[in-house]
Amino acid sequence: MGSEWETLVVGDHQARVNIAGPVPDPDRPHLWPSVGEYPIYDAFLYHAMLADRPRNEVFRDAIVQQAPGATVLEIGCGPDLLWSLCAAESGADRVVSVESLDDSVRRAEELARDRAPGRISVVAGLSTEVTLPDRAGLCIAELVGCIGGSEGMARVIEDARRRHLSPGARVVPHRVRTLAAAVCLADLMPEGPGVPEILVPYVESVFRAAGGFFDLRMCVGGIGYDAIRSTTGAIEDLRFNDGVYEQGGDLRLTMTRPGRVDGLLLWLDLEGRAGGERLDTLATRTSWLPVYVPLQIPEPVTLDPGDVIELRVTSELSADGIHPDYRFTGSVRRADCRRVPVTAESLYAGSAFRRSPLHEALFGAAEPVAVRA
Ligand SMILES: C[S@@+](CC[C@H](N)C(=O)[O-])C[C@H]1O[C@@H](n2cnc3c(N)ncnc32)[C@H](O)[C@@H]1O
Repeated sequence: MGSEWETLVVGDHQARVNIAGPVPDPDRPHLWPSVGEYPIYDAFLYHAMLADRPRNEVFRDAIVQQAPGATVLEIGCGPDLLWSLCAAESGADRVVSVESLDDSVRRAEELARDRAPGRISVVAGLSTEVTLPDRAGLCIAELVGCIGGSEGMARVIEDARRRHLSPGARVVPHRVRTLAAAVCLADLMPEGPGVPEILVPYVESVFRAAGGFFDLRMCVGGIGYDAIRSTTGAIEDLRFNDGVYEQGGDLRLTMTRPGRVDGLLLWLDLEGRAGGERLDTLATRTSWLPVYVPLQIPEPVTLDPGDVIELRVTSELSADGIHPDYRFTGSVRRADCRRVPVTAESLYAGSAFRRSPLHEALFGAAEPVAVRA
């Protein structure tokens, strides 16, 4: 990668980011910041979801099957009211749509008036803070992160079950698992990592929302199953209709192909309704891009088939009590029994800045510079 740097300003501090061309090429590996965890949705991000056919088919199928006659609560309807309108058009009895971003609320209210007069009530605020007059029998919440639980959906649904839903209410989506495997980003991006110029404002917005520079979660677009070099395992299993939220645990990945490894790839296996079609976001391109979690090793290790990566995965709520932080600790065990200790983390906010090899390559080695004394 050439040394094209752009300056980022966050509060009183600035840093620089390595640029990888003007726009991402969807057919080649490229980096995207993970943005869904933060209140930074704009028309471009909403449009990406509106145009995401595989995602929308899974949600639509689950809603059309379960909405007729139901009282529906949609959490996070966005400006387009996609799922609330779908529920109303499928014969829902009543629909309440909660949205936290003011601009999105305004647009959603206009749409509700025009497209389903008297059938959809839009409520402004966070679902975890608002009080609603009635309990619902069906809850739709597309708060699924690129790591399934990273947008805080487990806590939001727990709260909704306590305060907004009837006993036995159904939730869409039904289940979201986050899978993991070993990858080598250095091989996927031999020219070195960088952020496409058009995405730099999102990187800056994530830092602002998180309160400063940190090793933000990065996703990789333009890749598929041929990128992974090991067996797969699950790091999270959210079963919203069984009240089972398994987050973390032991992860054991056995190398299936020889080659270098410098990180983990995380992606989703999502079920809109029990027994419905499943969506695997590494097999099918969606707006949920796989997350790349850099391993804390000085340089990629070369492994052989049969070598094993063993990690203890923990998921703890970050300071806001909603969004989880994910940490990985363990080792790479080779066939000759040599072990290389490894750690990794994928946090919501506030970790060290440029601690991982990826973030050092992306943001350079120097400390943030104070703009004002
Ligand atoms: C991923 S977008 C989904 C938008 C739309 N439902 C869709 O599927 O295209 C999530 C939306 O939920 C909103 N949101 C996130 N958490 C929320 C909460 N706890 N209460 C209300 N709105 C929330 C965000 O502002 C955003 O508009």
